[in-house]
Amino acid sequence: MEKKRFGGLGLRLFILTQVFTTLIVLGTGFWAIETNRMALLRRKKPPTIWQVKQSLQTIRVKVLIGGVIACLSGIALTLAITKPIKKLIESVQSAAVGDFTKTIDVPGQFEFSQLVQAYNQMLSSLKKSEEHLRKVFYAADDAIMTTDREGRITLWSESSERMFGYGKDYIVGKGLSTVHSPKMKPDLIQHMQESAMEKGRWQGEIVYSNSKGHSIDGWCVMTTLTEETGEIIGYLSVVRDMTEKKQMEMQLIQADKMASLGELAAGVAHEINNPLSGILSNAEFLQEEIPENNEEQQEEIREIVENSQRIKTIVQDLLNFSRQRDSKTYTTLDISSVIASSLNLTEHQIHLDRIKIIKEIRETLPFVRGSFNQIEQVFINLLSNARHALNQKYPSLHEDKTLLIRTDQVEENGRKYVRVEFHDKGIGIPEEDMDKIFNPFFTSKEQGQGTGLGLSISFNIIQEHKGTIRFDSKEGEYTKVTIDLPIYEGDIEDDE
Ligand SMILES: Nc1ncnc2c1ncn2[C@@H]1O[C@H](COP(=O)(O)OP(=O)(O)OP(=O)(O)O)[C@@H](O)[C@H]1O
Ligand SMILES: [Mg+2]
Repeated sequence: MEKKRFGGLGLRLFILTQVFTTLIVLGTGFWAIETNRMALLRRKKPPTIWQVKQSLQTIRVKVLIGGVIACLSGIALTLAITKPIKKLIESVQSAAVGDFTKTIDVPGQFEFSQLVQAYNQMLSSLKKSEEHLRKVFYAADDAIMTTDREGRITLWSESSERMFGYGKDYIVGKGLSTVHSPKMKPDLIQHMQESAMEKGRWQGEIVYSNSKGHSIDGWCVMTTLTEETGEIIGYLSVVRDMTEKKQMEMQLIQADKMASLGELAAGVAHEINNPLSGILSNAEFLQEEIPENNEEQQEEIREIVENSQRIKTIVQDLLNFSRQRDSKTYTTLDISSVIASSLNLTEHQIHLDRIKIIKEIRETLPFVRGSFNQIEQVFINLLSNARHALNQKYPSLHEDKTLLIRTDQVEENGRKYVRVEFHDKGIGIPEEDMDKIFNPFFTSKEQGQGTGLGLSISFNIIQEHKGTIRFDSKEGEYTKVTIDLPIYEGDIEDDE
């Protein structure tokens, strides 16, 4: 229908210009002949040859002038039509590259003006829908990106920018692997694309790496982008950030594990406690009975007593680990003073080990609610772990033998926390050990140097304080422990 109308318009325009030019030429011709004929008739005498020639000459000149006028009018008419067409082409070209602002103005009620009006309306609808799409793109929490068949990024949403920290200008044209963590297999992208092609979609967990090098646990859904002909032109990936959810899950699993281990530990500790007390008291009794000069037997008994004492300490630690701590003893705490007290207790040893402590403690921090002694116990264990890791890496003085202690106030999921970080540049934790460090009795220390209960007790304590404890580490490079404790927003007077 539309095509027919446009065809009709073109033909009509052509005929119109032709008729217009012909009419002007004919008109001037007739007018010239007629005026000359009248001039000749008005004479009394018949015209001489010279006069007829003269008259014909005048007709020629007039027709020529008429032709020139017709030509100029034709040019003007053509310009009147081609100019808006040129504008229309320019506007279409701009729209093709996403600029929908170039509307065109052709006054009048001709069909061409109507066409232009319809085009302007289409442009404004396109602009609106593009703005709507952009808003959707911006509002989306998930990162949205498209890649071409070779895996190069072609479109990068604002949410991708927020999640990964890379700007559009930098990332477009780069491979999708730029945002993948080096941990991911290099042929993963190819596998994803093949799966998406075969089954229509690929989905799974991917560890990404943001512009600062931090890991992001993501859930990615990749689908194919197809032409109407069915040809695959690229891929669409939608990535959801699962980092916090995974950490929460890990904390929950750990808390669950701790609860059942706690019960077991309490049972075992009680069972051991009674026979152990018997062994110890008997050994101490024997120690007194055996004459002092019987050195061999005295030595054997001393070993029994010493080893039994060690078992007693471990049993005490076990009980400590499993004990339900009483939250009624909680007070309003200033974390800075807990840090200061923990450092006071360990400073001497840290100084002897030539470890440099860098403190970035905020002067004014909100209060948290908890037990001073328990939080101090957590900090002392973290300081001791960091000290051990630094000594392992640098047995003597070194400029990187440093431990950074930083405090801050943060907001996560709408809740406010005081954050404490212990960042040491020691030996770090091997990746395969990362999910074991909170397990009771997991230790990499030499026998007799640690029970491996430090972090499991710390985990329980932080959990009871409704906080979180997270580890980030790179083997051979660093360990960063982050503790978040909820800010106390009640009355300080409530305490006592
Ligand atoms: N800052 C750290 N650097 C390197 N490894 C660490 C660090 N903190 C903890 N670890 C690893 O986690 C393990 C468990 O720590 P945890 O505090 O629970 O026990 P431990 O220090 O070995 O023994 P304990 O605390 O009972 O003396 C450590 O043995 C070590 O392998
Ligand atoms: Mg420890």
